[in-house]
Amino acid sequence: MTARETTLLRGKPVADGVYAKLEPRIAALADRGVVPGLAAILVGENPASQVYVRSKSKAFARLGLMAETFALPSDTSASDLGALIDRLNGDDRFHGLLVQLPLPAHLAADRLLDRVTPDKDVDGFHPYNLGLLMAGRPALIPCTPQGILELLQHYKIKTAGRHAVVAGRSMIVGKPLAALLSLKRPTGNATVTLCHTGTENLSAFTRQADLLIVATGVPGLISPDMVKPGVDIIDVGMNRVEDDSEKGYHLEGDVITGDMLGRANSITPVPGGVGLMTVAMLVSNTVLAAEISAGVAAGR
Ligand code: GUN
Repeated sequence: MTARETTLLRGKPVADGVYAKLEPRIAALADRGVVPGLAAILVGENPASQVYVRSKSKAFARLGLMAETFALPSDTSASDLGALIDRLNGDDRFHGLLVQLPLPAHLAADRLLDRVTPDKDVDGFHPYNLGLLMAGRPALIPCTPQGILELLQHYKIKTAGRHAVVAGRSMIVGKPLAALLSLKRPTGNATVTLCHTGTENLSAFTRQADLLIVATGVPGLISPDMVKPGVDIIDVGMNRVEDDSEKGYHLEGDVITGDMLGRANSITPVPGGVGLMTVAMLVSNTVLAAEISAGVAAGR
């Protein structure tokens, strides 16, 4: 028997398609004198966060959009960070405002994220926007789940009627994605199982998946014996694993891509898969927020 051909679900062509569709919308805003702007708050020196914020800024610059990073020291107090959020909420140059996560341990992320005005919440993390999503009226949707839906659509991976198993219940990926996949619309209509650290016998669930989305932050958690042949796999993991290389680390997903070749129907590479989509959807959400504030798109 010949081995199955596994399709690599690369993010680049999908992200490029998102940017191409945004271009006329950006031009229409420019005609009104509006340049979509993002304020990104980065607290502390987390190297991965620094890389992510830099790649977000670069994407904005490439499209002629505005992005400013507000870098604060790791010992910033909750009241100082809250005051900066309040100030940026009121600054008309910025249509989008995000606080890069994780925050240092002394800062309560949920309380601080509550202070981002929902209209500028381009991460979609505010309880109001998460609530709209649960109510089936998604507005500003968290970027990684939204990017995963774009990937699935681009590569014509069906969701309706299939069993989607999501591993990881974070507010950033797992929970909103489970909600999106269960919505009654073309990019949803899946039967969804949400697994997490409290799940007993994880592999009993992952083996049932037609579509498996893994967002646990545990490198190499999912091995080939844990999936059925022909599964479609979205690997959200971006784990820094130390090695002897010059950099001192390499990136590994929650799934070892190479081990799935010949078994899965498709899989996202790490890097080069989901990460590129997260950035593209952040740009998309910021353009949408700018359109709403300019009165050219309907708000919530
Ligand atoms: N940390 C990891 N992913 C994200 C994201 O999508 N947004 C923010 N703000 N922080 C993150």
